[in-house]
Amino acid sequence: MELKIYKDKFEVAEQFSAYFVEKAAHSDAFHVALSGGSTPKIVFDVLAEKFADKVDWNKVHFYWGDERCVPPSDDESNYKMTVEHLFSKIDVPHENINRILGENDPKGEAMRYANLLEINLDRVEDVPQFDLVILGMGDDGHTASIFPHEIELWNAEDHCVVATHPDSGQKRVSINGKVINTAKEVAFLVTGTSKAEKVEAIIEKTEGSKVYPASLVNPKSGKLVWFLDEGAAAKLNQNPS
Ligand code: 6PG
Repeated sequence: MELKIYKDKFEVAEQFSAYFVEKAAHSDAFHVALSGGSTPKIVFDVLAEKFADKVDWNKVHFYWGDERCVPPSDDESNYKMTVEHLFSKIDVPHENINRILGENDPKGEAMRYANLLEINLDRVEDVPQFDLVILGMGDDGHTASIFPHEIELWNAEDHCVVATHPDSGQKRVSINGKVINTAKEVAFLVTGTSKAEKVEAIIEKTEGSKVYPASLVNPKSGKLVWFLDEGAAAKLNQNPS
C-alpha cells in the first residue's frame, strides 16, 4: 500500500492525472474502471484540461466500477458526469466507452456487464482483470457500490452485483470485491475531512474497520495507491507508534 498525501483536492487531481498518464503510456490497451460521485469531477477536469495531449486515448478503454440504475441523461448518472467532465473534452473513440446501461433492469444489466468484462478483459483464475480500478470511498466506508449494510456482496459469486443505496434505496450495478482485488493496480481517490476517520481506521487496520467495504480492498498484485488530501489524511499518524 502506498500513501500519497497532497495539500488539497486540486493537487490530488494533478498528481493522479500524472500517475494515470504514466500508467496508460505502457499499454497498447489500457482497461480502466472509473468511480463516480463528486471527487472524480475535479480529477477528470484536470486530466482533460491539462493532460489530454499526453494520453493516446485510442488505447484507453473505459468501464465503471459502479453505476446508478438511472438513464444516462439523469444527473445521478456516473456516465453523464464523466461525459461532462472528461469525454466531452477529449477525443476518445465511442467504442472505447463501455457504459453500464443504468436504464436497464438492474439484474439483467449486472449479468450483461459481467459478461462484457469477461469477454473484453484478460482473466485471472476466471476473474476479469482491469489494468486499473479507480475507487472512491463514501463517508460510511463504502466503495464502488458495496455498502456496509450489504457487505456480503463483496464476496458475491457474480462479478457484477445489484446493490441498494442504504438511504435512498436507489439500485446500483457494481463490480464485486473479487474483480476489484484482481486488478493489476487499484487507486483510491479520497478527499475531504469527512473521510478522515474511516481513512485512519482502514489504513491503520483497526478492528472496527472490517465493517467498511473499503477496508476489504487488497489487490493480489499488492499495488494499492491512496491519493489523499490533507483533510482526508488528517487523522493518520496521530496515534503514538
Ligand atoms: C458512486 C461512487 C461511490 C463514490 C463514493 C465517494 O457512484 O457514488 O462510485 O463509490 O466513489 O461515494 O464519493 P465522493 O467522491 O463524492 O465522496
